[in-house]
Amino acid sequence: MIIAIDGPAAAGKGTLARRLAAALGLPYLDTGLLYRAVARRVLDAGRNPADPQAAAEAARSLTQADLARGDLRGGAADKAASQVASIPAVRTALLEYQRKFGTENGAVLDGRDIGTIIFPNADVKLFVTASLDARALRRHHELSARGQGLTLHEVRAELAARDAADANRKAAPLIAAADATLFDTTEMSAEAAFTAALALVRAKNDV
Ligand code: CDP
Repeated sequence: MIIAIDGPAAAGKGTLARRLAAALGLPYLDTGLLYRAVARRVLDAGRNPADPQAAAEAARSLTQADLARGDLRGGAADKAASQVASIPAVRTALLEYQRKFGTENGAVLDGRDIGTIIFPNADVKLFVTASLDARALRRHHELSARGQGLTLHEVRAELAARDAADANRKAAPLIAAADATLFDTTEMSAEAAFTAALALVRAKNDV
């Protein structure tokens, strides 16, 4: 079974995907980490994340160890991830890894283009969203807990800029698949989102 979870930044995709995967006994892939790891490699090499050649080279030489790094979230990696993600050669280099991950034993994957490009025939597609204010509050809370001192205003501006870049790019833009179920979690707790998503999966798949 393939479950595709897409949506804008900090909408709660990861929490939901992880819990669904655990409940259903499926592997989970946070595809954002792939783009973040590519970005990290480019930044570490002192190159520009908007440079297609530098980014494509990094994507082609990505290793499992790159994905396990502890510095893929927050700071420069957020914007740089979105920059490398807009480069078609980067997306092509990461496509096969994602498809292989899903087709071996089924999976829950979260990202921006899982239901549209990576697994257009996914068994269940969710598009998880929330208001910009709600997402900024959640991400600010997360970052503060990790000791990153951005203000709520800065976090909100970063999310808005990244969503706009992700939605307006030509390569695999952030958009809900026509057959995705929309989940607006602005007024929903993580628990309620999980319960509703699990019920949907069960109704669609008889599991
Ligand atoms: O955790 P958050 O929602 O902030 O971001 P993420 O899911 O880790 O993704 C980081 C960036 O990678 C996004 O802003 C996108 O530009 C890019 N991305 C993508 O283009 N396609 C995906 N399937 C996943 C992430």
